[in-house]
Amino acid sequence: MWLLVLLALLRCPGFQGRENSFTINSVHMNSLPNWTVLNGQNVTLQCVVDISTTAAVRPQHSVLFYKEDVMLHNVSSSQTTESFFIPRARVHNAGTYKCTVLLNNKEKTTQEYRLVVEGVSSPQVILDKKEVIEGGVVAVGCSVPEEKPPMHFTIEKVELDTKLVKQRREKTSQNQNFVTLNFSIEEQDHVLVFRCQVRIMSGFPVQTSDSIRSELVTVTESFSTPKFHISPPGVITEGDQVHIKCTIQVTHLAHKFPEIIIQKDKEIVATTKEGSEAEYSVMAMVEDNGNYTCKVESSRISKVSSVLVNITELFPKPKLESLSTHLDQGEKLNLSCSILGGLPADFTILKGDTIVSMSPEFTKISTEWDSGVYSCTAGVGKVVKKSNTVEITVCEKLSKPRISHDTSSEIIKGHTLKVSCQSINGTLPITYRLLKAKDVIQTSVIYSNEPAVFDDKPVKDAVYQCTVDNCHSHLEMTSDVLKVKVIAPVVQVKLSILLSEEVESGKEMVLQCSMEEGTAPITYRFYKEKENSPFYQIISNETYAFWRKPQASKEQEGEYHCTASNRASLAQKSNTLTVKVFLAPWKKGLIALVVIGVIIATLIVGAKCYILKKAKAKQVPVEMSRSVSPAPHHGRGHVVGMASLWVWPHYPLSVDVEYTEVEVSSVEPRQALGRKGTETVYSEIRKVDPNFMENRYSRTEGSLDGI
Ligand SMILES: *[C@@H]1O[C@H](CO)[C@@H](O)[C@H](O)[C@H]1NC(C)=O
Ligand SMILES: *[C@@H]1O[C@H](CO)[C@@H](O)[C@H](O)[C@H]1NC(C)=O
Ligand SMILES: *[C@@H]1O[C@H](CO)[C@@H](O)[C@H](O)[C@H]1NC(C)=O
Ligand SMILES: *[C@@H]1O[C@H](CO)[C@@H](O)[C@H](O)[C@H]1NC(C)=O
Ligand SMILES: *[C@@H]1O[C@H](CO)[C@@H](O)[C@H](O)[C@H]1NC(C)=O
Ligand SMILES: *[C@@H]1O[C@H](CO)[C@@H](O)[C@H](O)[C@H]1NC(C)=O
Ligand SMILES: *[C@@H]1O[C@H](CO)[C@@H](O)[C@H](O)[C@H]1NC(C)=O
Ligand SMILES: *[C@@H]1O[C@H](CO)[C@@H](O)[C@H](O)[C@H]1NC(C)=O
Ligand SMILES: *[C@@H]1O[C@H](CO)[C@@H](O)[C@H](O)[C@H]1NC(C)=O
Repeated sequence: MWLLVLLALLRCPGFQGRENSFTINSVHMNSLPNWTVLNGQNVTLQCVVDISTTAAVRPQHSVLFYKEDVMLHNVSSSQTTESFFIPRARVHNAGTYKCTVLLNNKEKTTQEYRLVVEGVSSPQVILDKKEVIEGGVVAVGCSVPEEKPPMHFTIEKVELDTKLVKQRREKTSQNQNFVTLNFSIEEQDHVLVFRCQVRIMSGFPVQTSDSIRSELVTVTESFSTPKFHISPPGVITEGDQVHIKCTIQVTHLAHKFPEIIIQKDKEIVATTKEGSEAEYSVMAMVEDNGNYTCKVESSRISKVSSVLVNITELFPKPKLESLSTHLDQGEKLNLSCSILGGLPADFTILKGDTIVSMSPEFTKISTEWDSGVYSCTAGVGKVVKKSNTVEITVCEKLSKPRISHDTSSEIIKGHTLKVSCQSINGTLPITYRLLKAKDVIQTSVIYSNEPAVFDDKPVKDAVYQCTVDNCHSHLEMTSDVLKVKVIAPVVQVKLSILLSEEVESGKEMVLQCSMEEGTAPITYRFYKEKENSPFYQIISNETYAFWRKPQASKEQEGEYHCTASNRASLAQKSNTLTVKVFLAPWKKGLIALVVIGVIIATLIVGAKCYILKKAKAKQVPVEMSRSVSPAPHHGRGHVVGMASLWVWPHYPLSVDVEYTEVEVSSVEPRQALGRKGTETVYSEIRKVDPNFMENRYSRTEGSLDGI
């Protein structure tokens, strides 16, 4: 035997010193029984390799099995097929597989193969108890020991008889292959089973297990459904004492009594927390008719039953009537209470809670105090019924309203006038209306005896009245008449001159002080320049006033303004008006003539003096004695005439000059024009002595006052 092996080795080409060649032709995988298997099947993955070689003996190669690139198995082999065994394949075994063959330096890998494991191994359902009381909890555990998380559990609570799914809970477990979920037991649960199903997402596609049932769970009632007991049995009539009782049976397993509540509609009428019954006891009235509900409640369990209680009416509700509900004070109030069927009954009439009559009628002459809400009651035996309510309003007549206002008899235009109107007596509320010249301008409803106050802004004299009205049937009452005088303040004072602002001296000058609006009497004041006191003042009923100067002179030249005031406003100042007075052209000519005349006369006198001096130098003794008397005499006629015309200035001519009037009685060249008597001529006067000026003004003013 050893010899044969030795011989075989000697025949081997390698041993003859030659290098052998190897090549991997192909490599592929098989899955037995299939690439898609049912959960729990044994699976064998095969790696099949085809190698060509020049060597006589098959070479050793490595075969590596991978799942999702993670090596599972590594074997050295000289076989063409190597296997990897998966006993009872589970979902987590599903995935992509491949195998790699290594031969010396050569390597070949198969494509990826997908192994699909269908289905999930059956879960196991475990309960913590098989008997449970209503309101208790059952902990349901579900596990799949052979599978790996993450997985999704669905557990259902099913009533055995009806197969009705009463509750379904779901939970995903990331790290464990089991869950425990609590299920509460309710009043309608009797015999229950729980079903568990598992879904695993890790394999593709999602695999779902069968739904596995638990053992049975028997539910015990903690208390019975409540029962009503009504006494007396049969027909119940108003006035009977009725007992409405609700009872339950409680299991010995419960450690405390549930609460029993009797409700009529939404109202709780009886309740107990100790014991197995609750009772509502009442004297039967029709109002007690209805649907009574008994509710029994422990923490989670609530059981309800209901009953209709039918009580027969003994007599209908009484009815309170009044002929009218709105009465004027002094009218008759007549309330009557009655019941249908005319059953003999005891009647009471009430105002609010106070009894006003023990008979079915209440009659009186109404006063304001009778206003209120009335009702009545009718009683037969123990049964007393209350009627509807009737609201009675007794209305007191209003007293004549008084009208007044806050200011004195006058009001300034644009100011607010408050007109008050008050009716002392009368039922509230009172509607006040303010009338202005017979038209209603404002209305106010007052809920107290305070006066109504209206605001108005009259622009002219106004006549006010007010009326009052309330619930009383009389016509409205009207107040006296209130007259209000409205005075308008002075607005827009203007000073103007009639004709022209340039006045010829000797002509009439007229200033007009006027305004747009203002109530009489108005005080006008005329001012010149910056004087503090007016040179003319007048009180007028008109919106204008004049000041006249029949013969204007240079003295009237200057700046003027006026003011106007009345009771509603202080003095309002006008614009400033500049007035110029100029000389008539013929006067200028006259002055020029006179001046030339004087100059000529002076020259003549001068010439004469010169000649006389010369002559005197020659014959002094004679000429001197002769010339003294005739010379003045000769010149007198001229000079005297001049002096009566002129007040020659004693001051240098460069100072300011002003003209003043001087009366002239000499022959006037212009007398032919029809002017008679005296004529005014101007002479220059130096403006120096203020006293002199003042005197002139006071004199002028005195004379103006007379206009
Ligand atoms: C493997 O499973 C697929 C589908 O499940 C089926 O079509 C195929 O015939 C199966 N192959 C074998 C060898 O059983
Ligand atoms: C699956 O393999 C196990 C051994 O791992 C064996 O006991 C079992 O019988 C096999 N099942 C089938 C159906 O061949
Ligand atoms: C296969 O296993 C052997 C020893 O069992 C080890 O030496 C070798 O490195 C492994 N090969 C790979 C690719 O891991
Ligand atoms: C489930 O119920 C048990 C009692 O039956 C309790 O101890 C446990 O805390 C409950 N678990 C949850 C999550 O409520
Ligand atoms: C009485 O009231 C309950 C609850 O409000 C209701 O379920 C029931 O049907 C009512 N019964 C009658 C006879 O109306
Ligand atoms: C109550 O009883 C009277 C007879 O007593 C009957 O006519 C009526 O229909 C009943 N009402 C209800 C709601 O049952
Ligand atoms: C009160 O009014 C009723 C009718 O409503 C009438 O019969 C009765 O006589 C009146 N009573 C008086 C005192 O007027
Ligand atoms: C208001 O009523 C009282 C009695 O209530 C009466 O004395 C008074 O005169 C009335 N005043 C007026 C203004 O009518
Ligand atoms: C102004 O009017 C009042 C009253 O209207 C009158 O009494 C007065 O005489 C009038 N004055 C003048 C100057 O007309």
